[in-house]
Amino acid sequence: MKKIKICLPSYKDLISLWPDVANWSQDWAFWPIEEVLKSLQSEGCFVAIATENDQVLGFSFWKYVAGEGELLFVFVPQAGRGRGIARQMLEFSLSHLKSVGVDLVFLEVRFSNLAAIRLYEALGFNLLSTRKQYYKDGEDALVYSRELA
Ligand SMILES: CC(C)(COP(=O)(O)OP(=O)(O)OC[C@H]1O[C@@H](n2cnc3c(N)ncnc32)[C@H](O)[C@@H]1OP(=O)(O)O)[C@@H](O)C(=O)NCCC(=O)NCCS
Repeated sequence: MKKIKICLPSYKDLISLWPDVANWSQDWAFWPIEEVLKSLQSEGCFVAIATENDQVLGFSFWKYVAGEGELLFVFVPQAGRGRGIARQMLEFSLSHLKSVGVDLVFLEVRFSNLAAIRLYEALGFNLLSTRKQYYKDGEDALVYSRELA
């Protein structure tokens, strides 16, 4: 039976897996791939990926500093959605953050992004504030946070 695996690949492994991810770029134009890879060289940034039979199913991109973490981006391509992939990646990443001493996690999400909002709320994130017209197109951002007990 196929099994979804979640891991934190090294920078080198991620580079070799990245062609899979780069193929999704039309679908996830939100965050330039080069920027993700560049950020990974800074301390406190990591990517958690989900794979199945060595194929990448999704990724999430994080940073943390001084006990606080932030989800920068999470993406699962259309065909893989609704299988619990994002939930598993985020749960894994939150455990990792806890293990490195993070006790508070933040994220921002577009007001209209219902799927992501539901996902974050299902994982215990609470709405903290609204950033009016935060995005270039004028849409508001919702800021969520969650303590890691
Ligand atoms: C948001 C996203 C990451 C969800 O990925 P996913 O793997 O399909 O999510 P999961 O299957 O793990 O869903 C977990 C929970 O999230 C919620 N959820 C996910 N997709 C949903 C949808 N379309 N509508 C409503 N709730 C949804 C549900 O509560 C779900 O739990 P359930 O299956 O028990 O009902 C995916 O839709 C995506 O990549 N979107 C584009 C990128 C994006 O917007 N990223 C977030 C902003 S950074």
